[in-house]
Amino acid sequence: MRLGFIGTGNITTAIVTGLCTCDPPAAATIWVSPRNKDKADALAARWSAVQVGDTNQAVVDRADMVFLAILPQQKEEILTNLHFRKEHVIIHLLAGTQVEEIRPLVKPADRIVRAIPLPCTAIHAGPVVVYPDRGEAVSQVCDLFNRLGTVITQAKEDHLETLAVITSLMAPYYALVEAVTAWGTAQGIDRKDVAAYTASMFGALSQIAESEAQGDIRSLVTESMTPGGLNELAMAVIDGHGGFSHILTAMDAVKRKQ
Ligand SMILES: NC(=O)c1ccc[n+]([C@@H]2O[C@H](COP(=O)([O-])OP(=O)(O)OC[C@H]3O[C@@H](n4cnc5c(N)ncnc54)[C@H](OP(=O)(O)O)[C@@H]3O)[C@@H](O)[C@H]2O)c1
Repeated sequence: MRLGFIGTGNITTAIVTGLCTCDPPAAATIWVSPRNKDKADALAARWSAVQVGDTNQAVVDRADMVFLAILPQQKEEILTNLHFRKEHVIIHLLAGTQVEEIRPLVKPADRIVRAIPLPCTAIHAGPVVVYPDRGEAVSQVCDLFNRLGTVITQAKEDHLETLAVITSLMAPYYALVEAVTAWGTAQGIDRKDVAAYTASMFGALSQIAESEAQGDIRSLVTESMTPGGLNELAMAVIDGHGGFSHILTAMDAVKRKQ
């Protein structure tokens, strides 16, 4: 499978890094477009599977699967100048852009799979939501992304967009870890130790929530609270300050902006 990337920015760098660090590597040949030049050259210098096309069209011509990784507002200008083949599988990554907006820009290719990978694909971790949820092209795309993280397919495109809202919690999550770290540091503990402890604990809790809870997160909350214990006290204090309602308000705001 020959892969091509139109737009060599942050997300392409993450995906290509993830693909090239799989054991065995997930793709024999990866063509990236010449822009951004520094990023494209850096990827090609680092991984023998990566080559930089002279033009966007050269990338499209040499690929079986074409990732669209340009900014949403650039799609008409860039894609209308490219010639796609009917047999291309198009992996569309553009935020806030429906598949039907991409379809006329890539015809005659009509196998379009929308996905939202995250920068953590570089370390083969984290979720990748894929729409739609069936078909040969979707299977091929899922096989690829399964090497880079946890694939969650959705039958409805608006559900993919709703899951995308959750990605807006990356900065708030790190801010939570930072607040806890700052608190521990103020107690006199080495900052690196508090940060490592906190991130490791949250990582372990996330593993349990992902692999064992089957969606029943409420039970994990309950099981974690010994009556009269420290977690119960922490929950009571947080609930007394409005609980997590501000998180829901933030997610509603992000969804309205999408
Ligand atoms: N970053 C994420 O976590 C993430 C996650 C999921 C989806 N996405 C989506 O992926 C897309 C790319 O995001 P990004 O974060 O990677 O953005 P980015 O770092 O800004 O990458 C966009 C790239 O497109 C290049 N470009 C500009 N004009 C071009 C042209 N005519 N032909 C080819 N390439 C051109 C830019 O080059 P210059 O630097 O030279 O302008 C830049 O390298 C967006 O639509 C975004 O919504 C991003």
